[in-house]
Amino acid sequence: MERLKERALAGSLQGMSSAPVPPLVLNLDGVQVSGATPAVLATLAPRLEAARREILEVDAPLYAAGTKVPPRQSPLDHGFLELPKRMLTAYHQERATSELHRILVLANWLRDNVDRVVVLGIGGSYMGAKALMDGCCDPYFNELTRAERGSRPRMYFEGNNLDNDASQGLLRLLGGGRRATTVNDRWALVVVSKSGGTLETAVAFRQYLAALRQACGDDKQLLPKLIVPVTGATGRLAELAAALDCPEIFSVPDGVGGRFSIFSAVGLLPAAILGIDVVRLLEGAIAMTEHFRSAPVGSNVVLDYVGACHWLETARDINIRCLSVWAKSLETTGLWYDQLLAESLGKHDRGATPLTAVNTRDLHSRAQQHQEGRRDKLMTNLIVDRWRSDPLPVGTSELDHDQLNDLADRTLPELMSAAIQGTNEAYGDVGRPKIDLHLPEVDSASLGQFYQMMMLATVVEGRLVGTNPYGQPGVEMYKQNMSRLLGRK
Ligand code: PA5
Repeated sequence: MERLKERALAGSLQGMSSAPVPPLVLNLDGVQVSGATPAVLATLAPRLEAARREILEVDAPLYAAGTKVPPRQSPLDHGFLELPKRMLTAYHQERATSELHRILVLANWLRDNVDRVVVLGIGGSYMGAKALMDGCCDPYFNELTRAERGSRPRMYFEGNNLDNDASQGLLRLLGGGRRATTVNDRWALVVVSKSGGTLETAVAFRQYLAALRQACGDDKQLLPKLIVPVTGATGRLAELAAALDCPEIFSVPDGVGGRFSIFSAVGLLPAAILGIDVVRLLEGAIAMTEHFRSAPVGSNVVLDYVGACHWLETARDINIRCLSVWAKSLETTGLWYDQLLAESLGKHDRGATPLTAVNTRDLHSRAQQHQEGRRDKLMTNLIVDRWRSDPLPVGTSELDHDQLNDLADRTLPELMSAAIQGTNEAYGDVGRPKIDLHLPEVDSASLGQFYQMMMLATVVEGRLVGTNPYGQPGVEMYKQNMSRLLGRK
């Protein structure tokens, strides 16, 4: 165990260089739909600043006091704001007992002992982890050999649907209950549910637990080590975890809502298992919170983004927010944001509709509508400034049948830049609003900033329009109907 601890620290220390986090850059030039953006922001500045003050000076102390929150403000899941700082400070100061340290130690143990990890969870209990995997890992990570993965386990996500064939397919892939005897066929379960009672996840846990029990055969000691629950302090999953005698149980902290939980064990544990630099991820999020706290309207990416979105929605009826991601690896980041915006602000017959487009792919499907359809969309381009791999040139062909030799020396990043600029110009020509948001790179520091930026922006907008961004009361209705239809109480 000592050796594991040392390795965990060494791994994370690499990420603790505390090199400055390269900032995200927001460009609002494309929001000038007859009216200058700076002037619009200046008009909105007092209200944006009041919303920021409400979060920092009213919500924060109310939340910290831990007293009963008045019904008008309830629930108040303000905990996400300081969560990254809390996690990292504890790691620096208390090291061996901190949650992040426990996460890293367990991630190392899993690396040495299993080849696959199945993460069970739905909504906020899995979308962040999936977005991190897709953003930060090799695009074909699960197809790589164990050596190519640096012994990091392959990762799969289930318990996020009731899809019979998908679930059966994964169970078959895991060996269909066959006894696992080597690291190469051994697998583990991470089961994530804050409430501990969500049906999709609970059903999947029952089914996958049965398969894992078979895979462990008579090794009764092994089974509990291969089950890692991430859950609230109370609830059925917490009880089940205790009954199963799981040696490690991680928490979804009180006061942190599911879709705001990416910087808790919900996101950090799967990320650490995959070898993602979780320290840089948290540093990115902390840098964004500091920026939000101190930068004035006009150079505050959170407040400026909210200001532009809100102005377009209220003054121009532009109520579809399309996050147009210019990298395949960011598609699930877009889906993470879809959930955040939809569940937080889609209340009281109001709230903009989120939409993710992946480009250049969707230039061949959605772009026609974005260019000439209803004028109800704001495009937010999420642009990658630096790609991880060397630029791939088009290359020369002797016969040039495809007539691409004029582009022979051009690379995919150059073609992508031309596509972004060409699309923006096309929108500009017909007065379609767009915002450019630049990620220096798709890495944990940039994504940490982006996720925190969007969580802050969603809460600011909620405060601005008087919608409580926390809680999702509307989701209960289908659950009640479903229970009735299944003959449950
Ligand atoms: O944002 C939320 O709170 C929800 O999307 C939840 O994450 C989702 O419903 C899953 O809930 P639980 O973690 O309790 O299983």
